[in-house]
Amino acid sequence: MARILITSAIPYINGIKHLGNLVGSQLPADLFARFCRARGDEVMFICATDEHGTPAELAAAKAGKPVEDYCAEMHEVQKELAAGFRLSFDHFGRSSSQRNHRLTQHFAGVLADNGLIREVSEKQVYSIDDKRFLPDRYIEGTCPNCGYTSARGDQCDNCTKQLDPTDLINPHSTVSGSTNLEVRETKHLYLMQRTLRDKLEAWIDSKTDWPILTTSIAKKWLNDGDGLQDRGITRDLYWGIPVKHGDQPWPGMEGKVFYVWFDAPIEYIAGTAEWADAHGLDNAAWERWWRTDKGASDVTYYQFMGKDNVPFHTLSFPATILGSGEPWKLVDYLKSFNYLNYDGGQFSTSRGRGVFMDQALSILPSDYWRWWLLSHAPESSDAEFTWENFQASVNKDLADVLGNLVSRVTKFARAKFGETIPSGGSFGAQETALIADLGARIKDYEGHMAAMEVRKAAAELRGIWVVGNEYLQSAAPWTVVKTDPDQAQAMIRLAINLIRIYAILSEPFIPDASATMMSALNSTDWTWPTTVSEAIRALAPGHAFAVPENLFRKITDEERAEWQVKFSGIRT
Ligand code: MF3
Ligand code: ZN
Repeated sequence: MARILITSAIPYINGIKHLGNLVGSQLPADLFARFCRARGDEVMFICATDEHGTPAELAAAKAGKPVEDYCAEMHEVQKELAAGFRLSFDHFGRSSSQRNHRLTQHFAGVLADNGLIREVSEKQVYSIDDKRFLPDRYIEGTCPNCGYTSARGDQCDNCTKQLDPTDLINPHSTVSGSTNLEVRETKHLYLMQRTLRDKLEAWIDSKTDWPILTTSIAKKWLNDGDGLQDRGITRDLYWGIPVKHGDQPWPGMEGKVFYVWFDAPIEYIAGTAEWADAHGLDNAAWERWWRTDKGASDVTYYQFMGKDNVPFHTLSFPATILGSGEPWKLVDYLKSFNYLNYDGGQFSTSRGRGVFMDQALSILPSDYWRWWLLSHAPESSDAEFTWENFQASVNKDLADVLGNLVSRVTKFARAKFGETIPSGGSFGAQETALIADLGARIKDYEGHMAAMEVRKAAAELRGIWVVGNEYLQSAAPWTVVKTDPDQAQAMIRLAINLIRIYAILSEPFIPDASATMMSALNSTDWTWPTTVSEAIRALAPGHAFAVPENLFRKITDEERAEWQVKFSGIRT
């Protein structure tokens, strides 16, 4: 039994995520966690909300709520949606937790003790009326380039020119509208990543089995231009983790907080500690996942994320870990994803373009989305969601192939032989051939799942469903029953057992349908079907079963057309 630690990039607190976000991290991480559990591994699967920083403060201000309340509410919303998509986290934590405060302050303290933190003085815009420094995005004014009156301090959205806040004409604070601004000197802490460059490079070079997408991004950041830069890890914001040196004050850093990208990945560890707290367990219970001196040396750690997150996970976070000089676990395998586009363009949160997690669940159950998203995961390149493709995939793979097999077999069996598995006949050449074919395909499927080749795994699973249908088509128990009822009974006995095998194999993709299949079959035996010749006999003659509810319904052309308009982001 292997010990597997899995983390998904933690979603920002502000707003509900779209399906592209979901398939880029949380969903494939869940697929992998379920697969590992199904095969008997000991799994710890952690996610959380990423709560700090400017966007959270802005979103809270827009909602007219204190940022603490806003984050608490949005955390619950995201947690509910994660449950709706059946994301099987062991814990869904919060980067604003006390655990993360203490760990983040701890890491900053040891990094400083190791000589890896320096102080830098910077000039920044201060709003006298707001009594705070303003990050670039909080400042708006007229663009010196195109005259657009709502250009932000970092960029003009109209002409895309990159700006400095001091370039703006008539700058004002977006917090209060005040124009009472001045440039002040402020001090920040920098993590000396350059000092750690060689260590980081050696570590990345040792990862010969990582996907090219992952290593190429890491190398680019390591070597491009001036190479790895030291990076500011503090901000002049209200909402964040107060800058401290361990549990001691940090002179000169009063009123400042750590930068969100410094504390967010530390939440992977803190989230595991939150899990222990929630279960009334001691520190040893989570340290055995993270501290190689406390039992984690046999843990394999997998991270899942979109490609935009790769630099932070291959360089910044490892710099924190390596720089600490403490025996924390580093990631062993980093699975990254390209982007999912939406119907000829991009998902857009601001324009409401595309399907968001809450909307998806309001029109169809999670299995439909899980199946489409995972079987079209943006692995080797960007992928695109279209309603035609979604409809075709659901109607063919789920309804025609899998759903139809389940209902046809159980209904026929009930009509001819009653609601227990029939005992007649024995397996012949066709059955033996199917068993051999399944054995080989299941091996392939396991291989793809273990390698986190999501699309290939989905294709193989679909293939496994298809060979069952082909077998039924050619064996034709509904014809055989007229001349050789005993043989038809053997075929149906096999087919019902096949449904159980499908339920187990499909569970990582479509957990609800799998649960429905298993309960119709009256089975709680989820043993992974390593040996098909045994698994195909698991449900013995006389075992009771029922005909399940229709597993999947088809998407009509009318629905497809309606949804296409509804989610286009064009207001009608
Ligand atoms: N919130 C970030 C995003 O959605 C991901 C943070 S991952 C972590 O892109 F490592 F920082 F935790
Ligand atoms: Zn402009």
